[in-house]
Amino acid sequence: MKSLVDMFDLLVKPSPAQKLFLAAVRASMESYFGADRRRVDHALQVCRYAEELLTYIDADPVLTLTAAYLHDIGIHEAERKHGSSAGNWQELEGPPVARTILTQLAAGDELIEKVAEIVANHHTPGAVDSPEFRILWDADALVNFAEGLASKTDGQIETILHRHMVTEAGLRLARSRFLADSGDTEDGR
Ligand SMILES: [Fe+2]
Repeated sequence: MKSLVDMFDLLVKPSPAQKLFLAAVRASMESYFGADRRRVDHALQVCRYAEELLTYIDADPVLTLTAAYLHDIGIHEAERKHGSSAGNWQELEGPPVARTILTQLAAGDELIEKVAEIVANHHTPGAVDSPEFRILWDADALVNFAEGLASKTDGQIETILHRHMVTEAGLRLARSRFLADSGDTEDGR
């Protein structure tokens, strides 16, 4: 049987039912991370950037935002089982947790598998050929670069961004955020 989420066409903007589902994903992520506020805040920031990129890039908003909420969900299990939050352990430990959460929320099988695929690859460049994966990739980078680029020169930042960002909108947003004089405006297309 199709879930409620699968019954909706893939619209650029989530429908009211899809928004309810996404709010439930967010609540599950917050409850799973519990007192680990840093992880919750990171997921919420990534989600905000993903929402912004969705206004420029044609992609499934439910898949994109569900993946954004859950992309780092394996980090606690990675630390507990392997003593490390390294990307490869997160990729290994994240999908089972994401599947459990989404199954509890009665998500459709297709959505669960696509989210699990993104979670399983979110530290591997170009691993999934989809706009949803690319949006998650760039949204995660936009959050992580806010800390990582502080000591770099504009020239170095330009090089790093061009190597790392995989969507035009993501690159433009990153340049406007991290370069003193990017020549870009944030709302420019
Ligand atoms: Fe992340």
